[in-house]
Amino acid sequence: MRLVFMGPPGAGKGTQARRICEELRIPQISTGDILRAAVKNGTAMGLEAKKHMEAGGLVPDEVVIGIIRDRIQEPDAAKGYLLDGFPRTVAQAEALDELLAKLGNGLDRVIDLAVADDELIARLTGRRTCPACGWGCHVMFAPPAKEGVCDKCGGELVQRADDSEATARQRLTTYHAQTAPLLDYYKKRNGFRSVVGVGTMEEVYQRLQAALA
Ligand code: AP5
Repeated sequence: MRLVFMGPPGAGKGTQARRICEELRIPQISTGDILRAAVKNGTAMGLEAKKHMEAGGLVPDEVVIGIIRDRIQEPDAAKGYLLDGFPRTVAQAEALDELLAKLGNGLDRVIDLAVADDELIARLTGRRTCPACGWGCHVMFAPPAKEGVCDKCGGELVQRADDSEATARQRLTTYHAQTAPLLDYYKKRNGFRSVVGVGTMEEVYQRLQAALA
């Protein structure tokens, strides 16, 4: 299956994508994760991306399109993949369509996870992740067994640099200005589904299962 998960920052794309990818045995391709790895490694791409990410803006289209062009042609993506957080502009969606046409395939589902802004701010500012193993949680909605400690590997949990309230609000502004218009691009397609992202993680997961069926 070739899937796209869209939705505002904090909608639960990553949380749900991890579970669904494990079940479907397809790679989760998150442009956010790939960019954060580049920032951590101090590559030229990472240095360019860092300033946009810290400001709550989008990384230039040509950078992320290049990432996806290479990544979806890797062997582990031959039987499908889930794009988490890409495309995020109409230009990215058009580039993806062009690339898929060249590769002779298309998307099975484009799923939008819908959550209101107020809840998103609470989700983003309370998120904690483990830099050692990538495990994620929420201080109120899905707390770790021991405060500040990763359930999975015992590492120290940290807050993402762009999850401060000010940057989170800027990311939402960017979402409404640049990514929300993309809904019109996909809405009329057969494979498009809008899923309510509010409720427990299990409830959202069940709705996603229905949307994927
Ligand atoms: P990226 O990492 O993709 O960030 P994002 O889209 O802002 O999404 P998040 O990772 O913040 O949220 P999510 O929807 O995955 O939510 P999660 O599951 O973690 O991108 C970061 C930056 O990189 C961008 O700002 C941009 O600069 C750049 N970038 C990336 N892709 C790009 C592109 N294509 N083009 C240009 N630039 C790009 O959940 C959030 C929290 O809520 C967690 O703590 C979780 O435990 C909790 N939670 C999840 N579900 C629920 C629930 N149902 N109830 C209660 N809590 C919940």
